Amino acid sequence: MNRRRFLGLGASVLGAGALAAVAVPSAARLLGEGRPGRLLTSGLELPPPFQVPLPVPPVLKPVGGDATGDRYEIVQQVARLEILPGVKTEAWTYGGSWPGPTVVARSGRAAVVTHRNQLPVPSVVHLHGGHTPADSDGYPVDLLLPVGSSGSSGAMAGMAGMAGMPGMDHHAAGKSVTGERTHTYPGHQRAATLWYHDHRMGFTGPGVWRGLAGFHLVHDDEEAALPLPHGDRDLPLMLADRAFAEDGSFRYPAAGDDEPGVTSDYMNGVLGDVILVNGAPWPRLDVDRARYRLRFLNASNARLYRLELDPQPPGGDALVQIGSDGGLLEAPVAHDALEIAPAERFDVVVDFSRYPPGTAVRLLNRFGSGRTAEVMRFDVSSRQVSDDATVPEQLSTIEKLDASAAANTRDFTFRRSRGDGWTINGDPYEPGRDIARPALGATELWRFSTDLHHPVHVHLNHFQVLSRNGADPGPYDAGWKDTVDLRPAEEVEVLVRFTDYAGTYMLHCHNLEHEDMAMMADFVVE
Ligand code: C2O
Ligand code: CU
Ligand code: CU
Repeated sequence: MNRRRFLGLGASVLGAGALAAVAVPSAARLLGEGRPGRLLTSGLELPPPFQVPLPVPPVLKPVGGDATGDRYEIVQQVARLEILPGVKTEAWTYGGSWPGPTVVARSGRAAVVTHRNQLPVPSVVHLHGGHTPADSDGYPVDLLLPVGSSGSSGAMAGMAGMAGMPGMDHHAAGKSVTGERTHTYPGHQRAATLWYHDHRMGFTGPGVWRGLAGFHLVHDDEEAALPLPHGDRDLPLMLADRAFAEDGSFRYPAAGDDEPGVTSDYMNGVLGDVILVNGAPWPRLDVDRARYRLRFLNASNARLYRLELDPQPPGGDALVQIGSDGGLLEAPVAHDALEIAPAERFDVVVDFSRYPPGTAVRLLNRFGSGRTAEVMRFDVSSRQVSDDATVPEQLSTIEKLDASAAANTRDFTFRRSRGDGWTINGDPYEPGRDIARPALGATELWRFSTDLHHPVHVHLNHFQVLSRNGADPGPYDAGWKDTVDLRPAEEVEVLVRFTDYAGTYMLHCHNLEHEDMAMMADFVVE
């Protein structure tokens, strides 16, 4: 099939609803139940579930600051962690732990974070969901080369395997630094659960898989004035799946030592057979009979979860969603189950007083099977406790972006390429080539369409989901989002307004194997 015919076929499938409907069953068959990824199994015996206590990542202390903001330092370093009981795993970490330390920031105050790279590989840090000036956003070829790697030879080591990619040399030469890089996050954004993670071009999948991810929480006065659960009853929960080799090391099907992406049998995504929460396999947590705020983040490379409590409390509606990627919803939305795609965040309140004392409540993954169908367990205590937290009927006010005010409508199609790789609008990623140039301050309507499952992420600004397949947004689309899950043959429209910062940003699939295999594009705000 030549290129023109390939693109032509794409256009007709995406353009016509009837044809798209015909295309679904075959795509779905190819992918089991339509969800991406291939299972990588571990080479050692997996621990029984619900033995390890749930860890909570440490909060990062500022090293300084002034009236306008706080300064932080993070050393990216190799650490030998006990992830599976009695087994040592060499991880790439932020500050020696996985997840990395949680940055707790205040809306309106800057968080200035200096990263020092003591890893054996180049890195790039991105604050996911951050409203960030372009030079601090973590452009995928703005490499932070390891301490001690010298100038151009260091740069060359980092670029190995990517030399043939157009645009690389020029950009990489300009923006790569050695040793340390400081990222300024101005904090001009509302309270939200954000996360930071590696974003190196072609190598984000292995970087995050080996441990390069952490929470970054933003608080503000609006949220603080609400009677929501706080303190020990406000928990970040990072979900991730991994596979381990016989010797305890992380197993990952890299295409080659210096080659981006994975072997072609895993190009649809890598799934692990161990489910971890905050870096612990199938952990357990003692909870009071009280309300808890659980901030779910799916930090998995490719796995989608359908989270459900078992047993359900009488009357159902166990998971009361109060926030999404971009912070508080206008009003809470009660769910029996939550579907969460890679990079999405769901902020929910669970009231464990709805359970009899002593109940063991499992958190299940209904999209999993066997061991991956379980996530963690909450053990409800029989102690009598007080709980003054509630979930107000109104949480926030959200300005509804107006479709008729959109300055532009743009189409982005997410599809597999002819060879091993993934494309947006038919093209693999090429740094320095932009796919759109929205004006600073403008609202645009972006229409994403797809062949298979792709969690689509936009940097710089949060967006609002306007429609799914021409109908209303889905049950998990409420509020300000930065990542939206496209299902096979779907078309999703979002409204986004580009504010405050001009420059080059990214639009990409957050299935990290798809991202590494070129399903990414630059857009330039000007
Ligand atoms: Cu979480 Cu561009 O990524
Ligand atoms: Cu991002
Ligand atoms: Cu994808």
